[in-house]
Formats: sequence, structure tokens, C-alpha cells
Amino acid sequence: MIKKVIKSKEEIYNDVLEVYVNEINKNPEIVLGLATGSTPEPLYKKLIEAYNDSKISFSKVETFNLDEYEGIKKENEQSYYSFMNKNLFSKVDIKKENINMPPNKEEGIEEYEKKLNEKKIDIQLLGIGSNGHIAFNEPGTPFNTRTHKVKLAQKTIDDNSRFFDKKEDVPTEAISMGLANIMEAKKIILIAIGETKAEIIKELFSNDNISEQLPASILKKHEDVTIYMDQEAAKLI
Ligand code: F6R
Repeated sequence: MIKKVIKSKEEIYNDVLEVYVNEINKNPEIVLGLATGSTPEPLYKKLIEAYNDSKISFSKVETFNLDEYEGIKKENEQSYYSFMNKNLFSKVDIKKENINMPPNKEEGIEEYEKKLNEKKIDIQLLGIGSNGHIAFNEPGTPFNTRTHKVKLAQKTIDDNSRFFDKKEDVPTEAISMGLANIMEAKKIILIAIGETKAEIIKELFSNDNISEQLPASILKKHEDVTIYMDQEAAKLI
């Protein structure tokens, strides 16, 4: 069962922040599954503010990110490592050794899986692609997939081109946690903001179907998932 919360964008990020502040304080060694993209940015800003106001510390927090582009160096400003560093890691007291980013090439997958299997993600943060992907598990990805190399769907490349100067610069492959990894998280928070997510949110909730053609539909099988939506994303449900 998916719990739905429909509120204004501002209220959503405040609600989600509250969850993180409470959970981090309850368990300072919490393991967080983190996402990149536009959706988590406001949350990361609020987490930095909470850290600056001494409401939370990341000194014992461990993180795992969902995905990384294939073949893009860590230092490249388009890498998801750079995104995380700029938007969160460099601004809080997290220890470098507690940050886990997926590798940027296939060879590192086994090691990432090993680390993931030694830990259990307490809260997994997710955005949703306009084609229903979670992490970079594109439509058609088997539900039992673990960390793997993916070919990005054309829709994802088109959506992500807004972050690049030219469409040709958008990587076409990535390394992503699989749907099986995501389902192992104890708690899942998915945030969907804006009109561009309205169609896929409608599809997700229009029936009870769980289909590999809509990767996010697997979340219906998880026992602790909350989808936070603003009024624009929820306008068709
Ligand atoms: C990012 C990720 C993706 C995004 C999704 C939505 O790490 O795994 O699944 O969450 O593409 O992206 P935004 O938030 O930019 O709309």
C-alpha cells in the first residue's frame, strides 16, 4: 500500500525534512539512500539549514546514491558525485568514507553491491522519471534487478538534457541500483513535483497493476512507501 500525501511544494519539503530530522536524531548512524536531479534539491537545502542550525549532524550518517553516469569522471561537474558534493556533502559534516556513490564503470558494480549488502538502507529517497523510472531503472527493467549498467531511455536523455549545454553531451548509459535494491530499503519516500509528473502519477494510481513497464509500480508491494505530491503532480488523480 502506498501512502499518498498531496500538499503544496513548500509543505511537502517541510514534512519530509521533519522525517529526516527525527530519524537522524533517533539513529545518528542511519543509512540514507539518496537521489540526484531537481526533486531532492530543495530537501538538501533544508537539510543543510538544519545542520547549520545544529538540529542534525551527519557525522555518523552513511549514504548510498542511486545512480551515476557511465564514463563520466568524478570531477566532471556533470557527474552525480559532483552534484551531491555541491548540493549536500561539502556543506555538512559527513565523513568522506561514509559516502558511497555508484561506480562510473561496470567494473565497480560488484564492490558497490557488496557494500550495499553489508548495510540496510533505512530511508530511500526517490524521484520519478516522466516515464515511470525510479533510479535509472527504465520501463522493461526486470523487478529482480540489482545494481547494473543501464541504457538510458530516449525520454530520460531528453528530460536530462536541461542540465547540459547540448543534447549530444547527455550520457546515454549509467550505473544504477536495481529495483530489488530499492525494495530492500526499510522506508521509501518518493517526491513528485510539477505538471510534468502528472501523467505518470495518474498511470501509477489508475489501477492496481504492478508491471515492469512502469518500474515505480513495484513500490505497491513495499510496506512503507509514502509518495509526496504537489497539486500539479496530483492534478489527474
Ligand atoms: C536520480 C534518479 C532519477 C530521478 C528522476 C527524476 O538519482 O535516480 O530517477 O529521480 O529522473 O528526476 P528529477 O528529479 O530531475 O525530475
